Amino acid sequence: MKIRVDLNLSSCDNSYDILIESGILKNCINAAERRRNGNCSFEYEETAGILKSAGLKGRTFIITSETVNGLYGKDISAFLKEYGVKEEAIFVLPDGEKTKSLEYLSRIYDRLIEKKLERSDFIVAFGGGVIGDLAGFAAATYLRGIKFIQVPTTLLADVDSSVGGKTGIDHHAGKNLIGAFYQPKAVIIDVDLLKTLDKRELINGFAEVIKYGAVLDAELFAYLETNYEKIISFDKDSLIHIIQKSCSIKAAIVKEDEKEEGVRSVLNFGHSLGHAVEALYNYEGIKHGEAISIGMIFAAKLSKKLGLCFEDTVSKVKNLIKNSGLPADIPKFSPEQYLNAMKLDKKVNERQIKFVLIKEIGKFEFKKLDFDFIHDFLNETI
Ligand SMILES: NC(=O)c1ccc[n+]([C@@H]2O[C@H](COP(=O)([O-])OP(=O)(O)OC[C@H]3O[C@@H](n4cnc5c(N)ncnc54)[C@H](O)[C@@H]3O)[C@@H](O)[C@H]2O)c1
Repeated sequence: MKIRVDLNLSSCDNSYDILIESGILKNCINAAERRRNGNCSFEYEETAGILKSAGLKGRTFIITSETVNGLYGKDISAFLKEYGVKEEAIFVLPDGEKTKSLEYLSRIYDRLIEKKLERSDFIVAFGGGVIGDLAGFAAATYLRGIKFIQVPTTLLADVDSSVGGKTGIDHHAGKNLIGAFYQPKAVIIDVDLLKTLDKRELINGFAEVIKYGAVLDAELFAYLETNYEKIISFDKDSLIHIIQKSCSIKAAIVKEDEKEEGVRSVLNFGHSLGHAVEALYNYEGIKHGEAISIGMIFAAKLSKKLGLCFEDTVSKVKNLIKNSGLPADIPKFSPEQYLNAMKLDKKVNERQIKFVLIKEIGKFEFKKLDFDFIHDFLNETI
């Protein structure tokens, strides 16, 4: 299935396609030969079309992580070769959030310069959200921008980080503090790559899907309530369904507001407290989706406190999160610690934090809340 991210503005066209299929990488083996014999699959034609319209003609510089390289390094190289793309180098980085840093970004620049990559060449971000964000930011900034494609390998990256052009790195003072909006030329999602994912990682990505359902799509939320067990047991068809739904929702939001000047911040549901949880854990021992799950429950309770929703909405969000094995309880840090961590977030001004709140499943509202009010509510909730 192909989804178009339509970003055709009067000044420039940043539109691109997302391809979602099972077996894209493996099925490409000998595809060129099959094509010559007139025996070629629909997926091959579709993939070839997407890569062609992405304008990828030069050399490729693949950026990936150790685990992904060990599992699929040969496959990504074979895939690109099959589609006539020349691989220049594969650059393998350590696993983990710590890699999304200035230090590793600098190492990427060194290699790109050493390999004399030019504007006509391109980067392939092959990995989870960490690699996607880091490689995307390298692409955004090297030579003032070279083309890149996303080939995500985690559920979180499939449904969220690979789409929409948010790229960046963390700073010791806070997460994603340095970055750029820079759209990929294509996103190639091979659902089969999820088979090797740790179950905890799969469930981590599931949190972002809950987010879409909770504030944007009641039908998707109901589907998740009924099918969460299948999904977290790696059922391919239901995974394809939720990835397609999530990418369509994200594509529509990004089309409306590419640079997060308005409605796109709805995708930050659960992130105000979630980012604070991650920071208080020093980005260790808790995953992004796990932290935003805690944040979503907090935001739902806050919504109820403000009279925006009823208890059943809070319970629905909480139950789905708990049932799917995500954490629901707010960790025992003090209200001051939470507030200080939240103040570093980009959604904060002088004395207020902009929260995404829930009115009922599938409906949201933005509200700026005073620090004092949030402090008191944290006191009540922790
Ligand atoms: N740009 C955005 O819009 C956006 C949105 C949400 C999250 N993010 C960012 O995404 C990051 C989290 O991404 P993540 O959850 O994908 O974590 P991750 O990139 O750290 O990947 C998790 C782990 O899974 C391994 N892995 C990846 N693919 C695998 C596979 N197919 N099989 C086995 N192991 C595999 C990785 O090597 C890593 O160890 C955070 O930095 C977060 O800020 C960005």
